[in-house]
Amino acid sequence: MILITGATGKVGREATRQLLELGSDVRALSRTPGQTGLPGGVEVVAGSPADPTSLDAAFAGVSAALIVLSGDVAGEAANVAAAARKAGLGRIVLLSSASVLHPVPHGIADEHRAAEEAVLGSGAAWTFLRPGPFHANTSWWTRTIRENGSVRCWIGNNPGAPVDEYDIASSAVSALTQDGHESRSYLLTGPQTLTSREQARILGDVLGRELEFSVAPAEEVVEVFSGITGDRAAAVTNVAALRSPRVPWAEPTTAVRDLTGREPRPYRRWAVENAALFASAAPESRNSRRGVLNEQR
Ligand SMILES: NC(=O)c1ccc[n+]([C@@H]2O[C@H](COP(=O)([O-])OP(=O)(O)OC[C@H]3O[C@@H](n4cnc5c(N)ncnc54)[C@H](OP(=O)(O)O)[C@@H]3O)[C@@H](O)[C@H]2O)c1
Repeated sequence: MILITGATGKVGREATRQLLELGSDVRALSRTPGQTGLPGGVEVVAGSPADPTSLDAAFAGVSAALIVLSGDVAGEAANVAAAARKAGLGRIVLLSSASVLHPVPHGIADEHRAAEEAVLGSGAAWTFLRPGPFHANTSWWTRTIRENGSVRCWIGNNPGAPVDEYDIASSAVSALTQDGHESRSYLLTGPQTLTSREQARILGDVLGRELEFSVAPAEEVVEVFSGITGDRAAAVTNVAALRSPRVPWAEPTTAVRDLTGREPRPYRRWAVENAALFASAAPESRNSRRGVLNEQR
């Protein structure tokens, strides 16, 4: 049995689908077990990494786990590690973040470093997946593209190699089901170095619309982030790090190919598959205002 936390999210849902396709038994942990929309073959249990009382039942009889954390990443990882140790779990694949390699100090990196530390203390064989920005982060542009064909970019316009959630999920599935990935960390990127402006150009090309592109001043983004979290100091360092030109995901890596045996998906493919999100009559994006914080990690 393989446990997935965050199984209703972007990476976890796709990893669940791929594991079922391989014939694995999958258990999903969700705060809303009645509304996951996961396929029938998945065993859904109620709970969350944030709720330690839910974790004994979640880990019972599990051989390996994909751990996706949201919210208080460090605290949730400590809960998961304690439960994994108690259950004698064999293998943990942690969805960490490339931010742990960032030379600029900031809270997002600290949280993920603490999560990796906790997993190291769990007693399980571990693999750390450290993705750079997800392709799906551009779904944060949904509202303004629908309203007026514009993109207001919050993370600056420095080049990086964003990665597709599909490839992160495939990498997780390889690490969960194949040997040889224990005690290894993978910096996951997509195949191309792109600026946000270039992503907007590709998206506009796919949508058949010219999108107006602008970069929000850092102070504007700090206001938004600190308005959500109430922590202005953290917002200042996180925004500075996100907009730093020295990002660890600046160049494409071979990690997705090393894990899956195939090339990672280009951004254009994500744009084609998600074009309906940006049409004016499309259903609301699943991103909440709070979601942007996770999505900019
Ligand atoms: N986006 C990026 O660019 C990026 C880059 C590197 C690393 N990451 C990391 O990737 C992880 C997120 O992965 P993802 O995007 O696949 O997940 P996601 O779609 O944001 O959410 C995963 C699941 O977490 C639960 N959840 C959502 N918000 C929550 C909250 N406030 N408190 C507790 N649970 C919550 C939900 O599950 P239920 O409702 O079913 O419980 C949700 O389906 C984060 O640790 C993030 O730091 C992101």
